[in-house]
Amino acid sequence: MKRRLLALFLASAACLVMPADEPKNHDLDVVTDESKVPPYELPPILVSSEGRPITTPDDWFKIRRPQLMSLFGNLIYGVVPSPESPLRITRTVLKTDPDFMGGKAVRKVVRIQFENARGSADLQIVVFTPKGAKGPAPVFLQTSFSNTRDDGHNANPDRPGFLRNGMPLREFVQRGFGLVVVPQGDLTRHNEIEFQKGIHPLFYHTGQSFPKANEWGVIAATSWAASRAMDYLETDPDVDAKRVGITGHSKMGKAALWAAAQDQRFAFVVSAQSGCGGAALWKRNYGENLEKMVTRFPYWLCRNAWKFVRNEEDLPVDQHMLLACIAPRPILIHSGEEDRWADPRGEYLSAYHAGEVYRLLGRTALATEASPAVGTAVLKSDVGYYNRPGGHSVEVSDWIQFLEFARLHLK
Ligand code: GCU
Repeated sequence: MKRRLLALFLASAACLVMPADEPKNHDLDVVTDESKVPPYELPPILVSSEGRPITTPDDWFKIRRPQLMSLFGNLIYGVVPSPESPLRITRTVLKTDPDFMGGKAVRKVVRIQFENARGSADLQIVVFTPKGAKGPAPVFLQTSFSNTRDDGHNANPDRPGFLRNGMPLREFVQRGFGLVVVPQGDLTRHNEIEFQKGIHPLFYHTGQSFPKANEWGVIAATSWAASRAMDYLETDPDVDAKRVGITGHSKMGKAALWAAAQDQRFAFVVSAQSGCGGAALWKRNYGENLEKMVTRFPYWLCRNAWKFVRNEEDLPVDQHMLLACIAPRPILIHSGEEDRWADPRGEYLSAYHAGEVYRLLGRTALATEASPAVGTAVLKSDVGYYNRPGGHSVEVSDWIQFLEFARLHLK
């Protein structure tokens, strides 16, 4: 009895000295040492679900690609259901500034409204195009964390050529490119458990108050928003809709990949440090993994994805297959050497293995399984890769490489 009491006393004393909610560095309890990565096997891209070898572009487009897209939709990101009540979409140019940034660019604010019997939602995008261009301009459509309703998309008077949010617009317009900003927060909430606002409720069927297990999560909603912005760009005379590339960083880089895989109007993709659920491989357990992702952000993916937590070997897909679904369109995967949470090596391997499909379609891809040296941008092949020194961010020097990739491939 005495011993029991002593143990109880010691335990409660320990509670007193150990703060209950000690801040936890989520980075500490995942694999970040290459030698500790457990062995894994990737599912073959060029074999159909029925075990049939895929040997021609026709087989790829008619058999294998649709299988993979259905698996990614139903098991990873969630499919967009058809709304029970028809959706009305209205697009309005709210504001045009024909002399933005000292006359170097045109800036438009465009509202895209969605409405049906279940409610309404509003997406506000900002479109920058170079002023005095010879014809409609190629653009980068950026899925973005930033809010287009605040001041961030105005010119920064203290830093010529830059927006207030730090975007180097000058680098775009000097090269004849435009930039289109599509915010994530208009259609999905920052509190991602809140699925009663934003775009999701417009798609609920009678009696439904949350997406089904195979229906769209937050990332898929951001990808959908990018496609709705693309619908608008097809009507904007300043934009060459055949030369719209999609880009995004981190969570937005994941959304950019899923958008490009689904919407073949995107002419190229630049996915920056997209990591887990983006370019990085699920089955390679390094950095953030599925368990980390769904416990910290349960609704970024669809709920079916939860079934594969600590059970990635059962997933019939891995992310190299998502990149392959973007083929033959050029794709650049960007990593940061110190961004180990996003697994730079896993991002590279995914891009490397997607090369199988690019080659089948007569395109060029990454040549070696070994990652290129840090700081060396591989831009000329249709699958490009750039791992630069530093951590989780997109710097001006990165944008310059992204623009160069687009220039090389849009010729
Ligand atoms: C978290 C998350 C990543 C994500 C990142 C971001 O770190 O774990 O998956 O990419 O946020 O969006 O910045």
